[in-house]
Amino acid sequence: MKIEVITEPIDDKLAAILAQIQFNAYVTSGMRSYTQDEIFDLLSLESYTLYLAQRNFNDQSTVDGFLIEQHAADEVEVITVAIEPAHQRQKVGKALFSALIEKKRKTESVNIFLEVAKINHSAIAFYERMGFEIIGTRKGYYTIKSSLVDAIVMRKRD
Ligand SMILES: CC(C)(COP(=O)(O)OP(=O)(O)OC[C@H]1O[C@@H](n2cnc3c(N)ncnc32)[C@H](O)[C@@H]1OP(=O)(O)O)[C@@H](O)C(=O)NCCC(=O)NCCS
Repeated sequence: MKIEVITEPIDDKLAAILAQIQFNAYVTSGMRSYTQDEIFDLLSLESYTLYLAQRNFNDQSTVDGFLIEQHAADEVEVITVAIEPAHQRQKVGKALFSALIEKKRKTESVNIFLEVAKINHSAIAFYERMGFEIIGTRKGYYTIKSSLVDAIVMRKRD
């Protein structure tokens, strides 16, 4: 598996692949996923970076998952991370975060922040494993299956 860090705008075809992976990863939990156009527009902005987990199979490269981060000053925010369900628990997420943390060290960013729905226990367990700590709560931040759900704010710093 290879992690590619992409700072340039992406094409429609890749935006469609990412939208599909995010949909597949989010659908069972009821979380809203981005449309192809939303992903395309986000990654057209200079402050957003894409981390792409790719695997070679039969001379074809397939995308197993991705992470999008936004950087501002010396801080980084993880906007989304999604792994194709068939490839979850195979250390794809860990590889994406390792690449993010390595890049953050090089750019001397101090903190990485993210928000996660309080009911997304598996993602919270994953983030804790990646070294994030809970620093706060945003009440009723998400609407999931027509209910307001709190967001947990997490931070990782050196
Ligand atoms: C959460 C997610 C990004 C994790 O990525 P992943 O590639 O499946 O996770 P990894 O294989 O890299 O896991 C590394 C470690 O994190 C922890 N972890 C990962 N998934 C976990 C789960 N479902 N439950 C508990 N711990 C988990 C484990 O300690 C794991 O190590 P182990 O498998 O040796 O026990 C991925 O499962 C996903 O896309 N989930 C659906 C979308 C989502 O919820 N995104 C986050 C929205 S904020």
